[in-house]
Amino acid sequence: MKEDELCRVDITLALRFEKDFVYDVYLRLSKDKVVKIGKQGDNVIDLLRKYHEKKDVQDIYISRDDFKHFSLVMKEGMKARFFNPETTEEEQVELLDKGHQVVKESLNKFGVSKENIEMAEEISRTSMKTINRTPNLFRFLKQFESTCSKEYLRSVLVGYTTICMIDTFEWKSDAIKEKASLAAMLCDITLEPRDFEDIRAYEGRTHEQSKETLSKRVLMHPQKVMSLLSEENAPWVSKETLTMIEQHHERPDGSGFPLGISHQRIPLLSALFMVAFRFVNLLFEYEFDFQRCNEIFAILHKEYGKANGRKAIDALATMLGI
Ligand SMILES: [Fe+2]
Repeated sequence: MKEDELCRVDITLALRFEKDFVYDVYLRLSKDKVVKIGKQGDNVIDLLRKYHEKKDVQDIYISRDDFKHFSLVMKEGMKARFFNPETTEEEQVELLDKGHQVVKESLNKFGVSKENIEMAEEISRTSMKTINRTPNLFRFLKQFESTCSKEYLRSVLVGYTTICMIDTFEWKSDAIKEKASLAAMLCDITLEPRDFEDIRAYEGRTHEQSKETLSKRVLMHPQKVMSLLSEENAPWVSKETLTMIEQHHERPDGSGFPLGISHQRIPLLSALFMVAFRFVNLLFEYEFDFQRCNEIFAILHKEYGKANGRKAIDALATMLGI
């Protein structure tokens, strides 16, 4: 079977749903070579458990049709586990992280569907509830950084920060907060892990030099995600969510990407989202050292301190009580 006919599944996720994981399983040996390691009906799970114990395999592959089936199983299974009082908070968040990976794989391989967007909404809603129960962001991060992907944790932190910033305005509503957290969950869904490193390097340099260093995939990802979620593919995704996704790397001075639009075209909601995004990335960079808050705000003012960007920075300061 060709590699592009297969979908990636985290091995721990397969083990979590072992009773339902009755598929042909493949391993990727190199960029172009995959090998079948187990057949439907064999006891594939025992084999996966051995791989998992030895920690030498993180990802396994199943066919596209099996993956579609597995995403539905997982969506239903997640609900059941969330209502089960024996499921710990750690298990819940780990499931949300893996669910995020399944949504990402599913959107990239099959395009948008009502099922995968509903799953993304469910994951972002439940993630926001979980982080709300945690005393602070730092604790949340420390608790889950060894078990969850950085990509998932960042999207939760960005969504949560945006929501808290929205809370400082009178026009706040649950509906708008859900739209923002969904944007945080989906805005980077087409990126690969190394792309995040490129973006980090870009953000640390001067704008004009750095844009040229970014790959086409990075430069165009806001539009790629937008076209995945376009009205004809996904009429149920709101305009506000789409605009936040489209503009999350723009900057009020026109130095952002992909379009380099100026502050007049950046609505407040997008400004809140982009400032929250940069703030969270800086927190990661400064290893959550809140003593360096002044440095972080100086950078935010330099990069976003104009028009709605300035209002967003003020909202962040209000939210942090500074
Ligand atoms: Fe992005």
